[in-house]
Amino acid sequence: MIGALFSLAKPALHALDAETAHQLTIRGLSLMPVMPLPPDDPRLGVDVFGKAFPNPVGLAAGFDKQCEVPDQLLGLGFGFVELGGVVPKPQAGNPRPRVFRLTQDEAVINRFGLNSDGLDVARERLARRHGRPGVVGVNIGANKDSSDRIADYVLCIERLCGLADFLTINVSSPNTPGLRDLQGEAFLDDLLARSIEARDKADRSRSKTIILLKIAPDISLDTLDAIVATALRRGIDGLTVSNTTVARPDTLKEKTLAAETGGLSGKPLFVPSTKILAETFLRVERRIPLIGVGGVDSAEAAWAKIRAGASLVQLYSAMVYKGPGLINEIKTGLLRILAYEKTSLAQAIGRDATDLAQGRF
Ligand SMILES: Cc1cc2nc3c(=O)[nH]c(=O)nc-3n(C[C@H](O)[C@H](O)[C@H](O)COP(=O)(O)O)c2cc1C
Repeated sequence: MIGALFSLAKPALHALDAETAHQLTIRGLSLMPVMPLPPDDPRLGVDVFGKAFPNPVGLAAGFDKQCEVPDQLLGLGFGFVELGGVVPKPQAGNPRPRVFRLTQDEAVINRFGLNSDGLDVARERLARRHGRPGVVGVNIGANKDSSDRIADYVLCIERLCGLADFLTINVSSPNTPGLRDLQGEAFLDDLLARSIEARDKADRSRSKTIILLKIAPDISLDTLDAIVATALRRGIDGLTVSNTTVARPDTLKEKTLAAETGGLSGKPLFVPSTKILAETFLRVERRIPLIGVGGVDSAEAAWAKIRAGASLVQLYSAMVYKGPGLINEIKTGLLRILAYEKTSLAQAIGRDATDLAQGRF
């Protein structure tokens, strides 16, 4: 039903600039009643981070930056949603236009720069829905003008613990100058140590808020070695791989738009983000779960992420082109693949990581 509505609305939405179309989409979702969560086939259920996810298909950060419509998004059939990025103080982000559709490439470039209503507003919105069913996480970042970026993450963790199922430390957005430097070993060690300490202090309950780290696809394998070692040493619960890329593959057709500054997501990100996911899996050796993000636009793409090592997948850009009907299409497709291959999601995780890391898709 909602898929059919999207097909009708798509030409009108795509005639608007991408940010206005997105604002209208959020407004439309906010007008929808919150429905009971649609049931999923038990074969799609996954137990990750000590939590039962009804299906492995999640919404990636950046879609509902201001935490306005988590329950409506869960109602579309996602197994979990990641809200945000949220930063402590409200900030406007970069001037518009700051998001571009590369239609022929089924890709998006954005340079939002973590525009956020701020932590207090996010907290209030999350508190209002607290206790409702569904797995909801929040992506957290640092203010652009912050003099102590680590303190920003710590504050977000202190204030959001208990209100979200998981918090994702975003050190991989290309649109806040210097943010990705936090992926450097010394910074990262301090950031993760203080983040975990803040979580443990704020959340004494038995089921602690899960802390994830989201990384960029544009890192060397040496940097990945260091990130994985630091994350494991500091007790991070999982890694999300990956954020958008600053690279511009030669294969992009929309040459003029490709020259825009920002992070590229969607179809052209699928191969590089899946390779780095597989490389991460080979280093993590099943000690913590991974979430695979980047260019998921079909059941086959989600399946490849799982075979590369993802216990859960997320998507954003493909929703712009294919609409919410894609969620059910992926779930139905995964069930078909599981039946055909006579396997389970749990068995498939990381099965082909070595091949996929080498680019053998
Ligand atoms: C418009 C837009 C805004 C985004 N904002 C955030 C953000 O605030 N924090 C974050 O970690 N990732 C953000 N992302 C990255 C996505 O969460 C995801 O990692 C990336 O888009 C790759 O997935 P996709 O190819 O399915 O879009 C954003 C992506 C887009 C397209």
